[in-house]
Amino acid sequence: MAELPLRLGVNIDHVATLRNARGGIHPDPVDAAILAIKHGADGITAHLREDRRHINDDDLNRLQELCSKTGAPLNMEMAAVEEMAKIALNLKPHAICLVPEKREERTTEGGLDVAGLHNKITPIVRRLSENGSRVSLFIEATSEQIKASAHSRAQVVEFHTGAYAHALDDGNHDLAQNLLEQMQNGAKQAVNLGLGVHLGHGLTFENVGPIAAIPEAMELNIGHFIIGEAIYTGLPTALATMRKHMDKARGIDL
Ligand code: PXP
Repeated sequence: MAELPLRLGVNIDHVATLRNARGGIHPDPVDAAILAIKHGADGITAHLREDRRHINDDDLNRLQELCSKTGAPLNMEMAAVEEMAKIALNLKPHAICLVPEKREERTTEGGLDVAGLHNKITPIVRRLSENGSRVSLFIEATSEQIKASAHSRAQVVEFHTGAYAHALDDGNHDLAQNLLEQMQNGAKQAVNLGLGVHLGHGLTFENVGPIAAIPEAMELNIGHFIIGEAIYTGLPTALATMRKHMDKARGIDL
């Protein structure tokens, strides 16, 4: 069992989704971030999408201000495009996660093709890193993508756990087990290549255990489920329960 505590990055995008459903100012994702930090989030993650469907530029600026004030790291998720690079270079968040993005998709489906897009990704990684942000790449945990990520000089890979989560939802336990083993092996390969390992997407109280138990994992980024659960129990309880599941998987005494 893993012994090191695992960081929990809380993605507050869907607080903004709810706000934007009415076009007003409530609920404010920055208020959610304040509450999450107060109740044990190790960092705040926010995805500035090209269509601004949830987090907008003003949210991101206010989140950066909050994170600078509190010392909580801000992890900005963004597409590897020039518009976003300019915003990120100006904002200088603690961390940046490059994700694939298509306008028509509901959420981020599949990982970034770092191997296929090497010439596009590598210069952006370099510019963002030289500007002081730690850069991670959101990929599927295949050997090819991990090698390409190391080659791009990103410091961290974030493995996409969405397919694993879907497989469990569909009752396809063999596929879920194969994907889990791919991530377990991928985590070892990534660490051997000098990369930090994060994981995220579609994680819930039910499926987080085996992911949290990956010994090389340093951070999980979780959003939709925690924000959804907060509707029933409140954000502090939802966070505390997620942390309990993570700690249990790491063998930390509760
Ligand atoms: N990590 C990355 C890179 C993501 O793009 C997302 C979704 O925005 C998450 C983690 C969190 O996924 P979820 O909202 O399903 O927990």
